[in-house]
Amino acid sequence: MTIVVSKPRYPTVVLYVQADEVEQLGADLFDLGATGVEQRDATTMDRSAHESAVELVAHFPDVELARAAQRLLPEGVGAQLSFVIGDDWKHRWREFFRPTRVGARFVIRPPWEEAETEPGDHVITIDPGLAFGTGTHETTRLVIAEIERLADAGAATRTVLDVGCGSGILSIAAGLLGAERLVAIDIDPIAARVAVENGIVNGATIEASTTPVQAVEGTFDLVLANIRSPILIPMAAALLERTGQHLVLSGLLLEERVEVREAFDPRFEFVHESTEGQWLALTYRRGAIPAS
Ligand SMILES: C[S@@+](CC[C@H](N)C(=O)[O-])C[C@H]1O[C@@H](n2cnc3c(N)ncnc32)[C@H](O)[C@@H]1O
Repeated sequence: MTIVVSKPRYPTVVLYVQADEVEQLGADLFDLGATGVEQRDATTMDRSAHESAVELVAHFPDVELARAAQRLLPEGVGAQLSFVIGDDWKHRWREFFRPTRVGARFVIRPPWEEAETEPGDHVITIDPGLAFGTGTHETTRLVIAEIERLADAGAATRTVLDVGCGSGILSIAAGLLGAERLVAIDIDPIAARVAVENGIVNGATIEASTTPVQAVEGTFDLVLANIRSPILIPMAAALLERTGQHLVLSGLLLEERVEVREAFDPRFEFVHESTEGQWLALTYRRGAIPAS
């Protein structure tokens, strides 16, 4: 008797874009439910099938979501549904995750690689699994640098709400700077589980769940939200209710600045902005204290 073991099939949507469209379409794919987006071009291990264009391969949790994304993407990108067979792809990104310095005093490292550190450094060990947040993305780096800046300026950071926690990396950074209560939420149950596990590895107790931001109880000294603007803007009122002192928004493209500030400026006091590449983070404060 022959036993045939079939390999799992993972739905992807493949599209070809110009280099200057990568950030926007990559972000759109996450908004449409992609759990990861691979970029293939002349510099990557897997090359684009078309030399003149960047190939984006977006992984989706199920075929219905992939089909819906394919329909909603602009026609010009020629989005095609495709399937990856087998599990090897899930772990290939690990080859590219190396220890990296973030902010002034943080070093992020994967569990399988030692990092060179200097006295006073905080080391975060992160295994994101399938959740977003290795600390190498600009949007994550901007928030970590901002948590550090606020802590150095003496802002209250005892209680922290991490909205869209992914791997839990932002909560862990806040914990290493002295936060005592870390509440983390994500719509993705895998992220909530991974955040708790990463918290344990780094000595931080993270209360992670899939609770919607509107249902989180209480206020927090510091609220962090690294999520794309179409999701953040409708959350403005709920974020205000949960912010005790400061709110840091990230995941924003530079060209979204005006639209995001129009939604948040009337509710909060604007404090600070920082940028890296095409990405923007905004810091707000609740209350009537003059901006520093
Ligand atoms: C860009 S990742 C940020 C991960 C991590 N906080 C970091 O900074 O590296 C955005 C996360 O937001 C989550 N997310 C998207 N929409 C959300 C929502 N409405 N409520 C909570 N989390 C959401 C995604 O599942 C994803 O894990």
